[in-house]
Amino acid sequence: MSAAQQLLIGRDGRDGIDQADAPALLEFLATLTEAPDCPTASAYLLARLTVRRAVLMLVDPVRDILSVYSSIGVPVDELGDEGLSLGDERHPLVVSAMTMTTVSGSSLHFGLPFSEWVAFPMPQPTFRGAPVPIAGHHASQLVAGVGGQVTPASLRPGEAPLGVVVIEGVPAPQRLAFLSRLVALAGPVIARFEALGVSDEQAERLRQQRDRLRMMIDALPDPIVITDSANDIVVQNARAEQLLSSREGDSQGRRRAVEINNLLFTSYLSKAMMTGAIDKQSGPRELNLVDPTEGADILFEVLAHPLRDDVDRKGAFLSVLRDVTDLRRAVNELERHMQRVRSACSFIRMMFDQAERLFEAPPPTAVTTVRGRRVQAQAVRGNDMKFTSFISDFAMATATARRAEMTLTRPDTGDALPMEVVSGKIRNERDEAIAIVSVLHDLTKQYENTRLYEELKRSSEGLEARIRAATADLAEQNAKLQWQTQEVERANTLKSEFLASMSHELRTPINAVLGHTANMIEGIYGGVSDDQLEMLKRIRSAANHLLALINDILDLARIEAGKMPLRIEYVHVKSIVTEISQQIEPLVRRKGLDYVIEVPPDCPPLRTDRTKVKQVLLNLLSNAIKFTPRGKITLRAECDADSVKLRVTDTGIGIKTKDLSVIWEDFRQVDQTLIREYGGTGLGLSITRKLLERLGGRAEVASEYGKGTTFTVTLPWRVEEEAHAITPADQAALP
Ligand SMILES: Nc1ncnc2c1ncn2[C@@H]1O[C@H](COP(=O)(O)OP(=O)(O)OP(=O)(O)O)[C@@H](O)[C@H]1O
Ligand SMILES: [Mg+2]
Repeated sequence: MSAAQQLLIGRDGRDGIDQADAPALLEFLATLTEAPDCPTASAYLLARLTVRRAVLMLVDPVRDILSVYSSIGVPVDELGDEGLSLGDERHPLVVSAMTMTTVSGSSLHFGLPFSEWVAFPMPQPTFRGAPVPIAGHHASQLVAGVGGQVTPASLRPGEAPLGVVVIEGVPAPQRLAFLSRLVALAGPVIARFEALGVSDEQAERLRQQRDRLRMMIDALPDPIVITDSANDIVVQNARAEQLLSSREGDSQGRRRAVEINNLLFTSYLSKAMMTGAIDKQSGPRELNLVDPTEGADILFEVLAHPLRDDVDRKGAFLSVLRDVTDLRRAVNELERHMQRVRSACSFIRMMFDQAERLFEAPPPTAVTTVRGRRVQAQAVRGNDMKFTSFISDFAMATATARRAEMTLTRPDTGDALPMEVVSGKIRNERDEAIAIVSVLHDLTKQYENTRLYEELKRSSEGLEARIRAATADLAEQNAKLQWQTQEVERANTLKSEFLASMSHELRTPINAVLGHTANMIEGIYGGVSDDQLEMLKRIRSAANHLLALINDILDLARIEAGKMPLRIEYVHVKSIVTEISQQIEPLVRRKGLDYVIEVPPDCPPLRTDRTKVKQVLLNLLSNAIKFTPRGKITLRAECDADSVKLRVTDTGIGIKTKDLSVIWEDFRQVDQTLIREYGGTGLGLSITRKLLERLGGRAEVASEYGKGTTFTVTLPWRVEEEAHAITPADQAALP
């Protein structure tokens, strides 16, 4: 038997293992160690026991329990996972594991439905922190307390409890010894596998952590580098690699740039370390590198931290490089700009006299007091500040010109001075502003004009409002007036209608009076005395007068009410004149007046209303007779192409010029004394004019007071028949 086989079967076969089992054990071990991981190895061990059901439980030193790790013939989930407390020293499995004694028994609980069973302890090489086995007398007591002992407790030095394997049934002693040895041999291998499994897990976790950290620092846009004491790069992120490392296949240019960068970086670190700048976090921290891809200069600010000795070797540094190229460029630009501004507006370089008065204190005179000088200086300072701030603003801006209004103060009087400032930049050939020219314009006058304009606008607005109010008032008055006119017209119509009906009612009784009076005068009702006859004649005269009056009123009313129809026919001037002359002849004769008619023989007939023409002539002739005490009355007709003119001339009392226009009005008689003398109502001329209007003619008067009067009537050759002709309806409407 080989030494190895001897080792396998145990000390001198004391465990009761057959030497013939040695090759099988060797083969088992060889296969077990080939397993890829702990679960496979455990499964192989259980399978190799060649029993129907078996369970492997391992000691969990952290949780202080014995828990199921693997099983065969019994689903693991049936076994529960809370495990057996290692403190439970009455549990046969705990006892078996912790005393490292093979224990057998029947009716085992803890989820194992085995009626008979054997528990084999599984050892592992001891190590610091390994579970400590129970030994000696106490162990024997425990084992005795839990049931049949198969093998005596025999702790082997250098072994610690790893777990226990429980199988169903109790095999023959020979077989039992073999299985016990198998489990004992498998213990260290399983323990090793488990430890490896744990460290694999840890390694995986660390790897993930490292990857995440790597990703993080690689994602940073700033290069990050860890260097050792020799300033060689130990770790760097992606960006640092890009700047400081070259790879296979890189171009010559890139390699060169990387070399230069390394040189620059190393020299920077050495210098910084030598000057102690890193430790003190002071000194120059800028580092210029080259972009190996684009060849452009990149300016970095280096933040270097010494790494603690326990983290890395002594003299290691963590350097973070911040790209400040753009920042530096912006700062430079700003500085250059500021420089330019400073040189461009290094204050007022040139000034004309008027401007000087604003920006320089006036020369002191004998009367300038100390206080006055202070006030002047203040004004100059204020002006200067306002102006300079405007110019600086403008200088910084990109605009070429700027305009602003500002109120300055006159240093000599202290008055406010509204000013318009227009500034422009003078540029050199590089388009840089080298000077600013400003023109100041006094706005006092303009402000005054604006004020006046505003005032004017305000007052004109007031005026407008007043005009609006007045117009509104006027419109109201107009409306009122219109309403009044309508009222007057309505009243006039009512009056005419009233007169028309009243005249008609009056005529009937008067005709009766006239009729009866005539009969009495004729003696039809019997004889009357001379005195009675005289009275009857007076009654007749008065009644006639009343009738004439009523007829006049009726005519007027009819005309005004529009109820005076025309009866158009051919009328010979001659025949009318003859008719009318016969009618008035007795009156003329009674007054002893001469009466002359002049009518041209070839006058053609007119188309007009005969009665109305007669009435017109009768009115004029009766006036002439009435107002002519002595002398002559002439009726003259003149015919021409357009019209016929009929003139009535008398040598009577005449009409004053001022009265010539009023004689045409209703009831208008010019002289009250004449009324008493001549009677009448003052309606004759008014009716005449209205009749003539209907006939399309007109009447005019010419008179010399005290000498005589001429009335001229002009008639058209024909009246507009259609418009005015009488109709049956008109006839029926006549009163
Ligand atoms: N031929 C005339 N000469 C002088 N005055 C005249 C003459 N014709 C008219 N008048 C003046 O004109 C006034 C108006 O004349 P009108 O014929 O309208 O009234 P009347 O003759 O006074 O009254 P009525 O005609 O109604 O009887 C007269 O009152 C008279 O003063
Ligand atoms: Mg008259």
